[in-house]
Amino acid sequence: MIIFNYIEQIKICLSNLKHSGKTVGFVPTMGALHQGHISLIEKAKQQCDFVVSSIFVNPTQFNDLNDLKKYPRSLQADCVMLEKAGCDVVFSPEINEIYTSEEIKLMQQQIEDKTWMLDMVVDFGMLDKVMEGAYRKGHFNGVAQVVSKLFRIIEPDKAYFGQKDFQQLAIIRSMTKQLGMSIEIIGCPIVREVDGLAMSSRNTRLSKEQRELAPVISIILFKSKELYQSLTVGELKSFVEKEFNSIPQINLEYFEIVDVNTLQPILEYSQTQSAIACVSLKLGEIRLIDNVILY
Ligand code: PAF
Repeated sequence: MIIFNYIEQIKICLSNLKHSGKTVGFVPTMGALHQGHISLIEKAKQQCDFVVSSIFVNPTQFNDLNDLKKYPRSLQADCVMLEKAGCDVVFSPEINEIYTSEEIKLMQQQIEDKTWMLDMVVDFGMLDKVMEGAYRKGHFNGVAQVVSKLFRIIEPDKAYFGQKDFQQLAIIRSMTKQLGMSIEIIGCPIVREVDGLAMSSRNTRLSKEQRELAPVISIILFKSKELYQSLTVGELKSFVEKEFNSIPQINLEYFEIVDVNTLQPILEYSQTQSAIACVSLKLGEIRLIDNVILY
């Protein structure tokens, strides 16, 4: 496995490959890798000749400076995991390789005001007005900004994203289409710990007590999947909200039942659409999200 820090180097390596007709699968990450990331690498390996992963903690997608500072970083361990999983190339750039000095200056000046991120002609319509988009102002602009830059550098045939970040997946599909990029976006299933907790880099920040409590998130979500046929959307929402609110250590941000394509809340179940239940909550200061497809 080769590790590149500079755009120019990785571009030369990839252009040689592409000239020889090899397909490239890309798994962008912010490091702190777990089995969820590795499942993306494995999928890419099955479907492509060559697998590239990036490790870059992207500051522009953090709406909370504290969260950015505390984001776990484990480059060496990450590279060991990637190599074992069969990744061919890692791109691990410094910030000034991805952002211009002008962008970095603006980033430092206006960290709370995300308007500077809108350097792309992308309109997400209602997709980024709900759930994560509503709670984390500017987050999806930052994600789209860095992923579009990475796509332009790597120019993969396919790119792989986990369905735990279901809204991110929809945003990236929309961005790729709007920018006319011919990259196939592949969504991959959530990988869970044995006790049901969705794998996340943030899980390592949970205290022992918080970690013991955390599986309740998926337990309640799966209960909602069992119950949805016997309750109205409103009743199901109230039931789930009550369940989460009855746990003192949990601070529920939202529980939404939305259309899988538009991500807009649904008022009643319909046979012509699929629905997904999405939750975001805080356990202490750690923010966790999870979801389950209802039907
Ligand atoms: O899902 C993530 O880890 C990040 O949002 C991504 C897609 C790597 C962009 O920084």
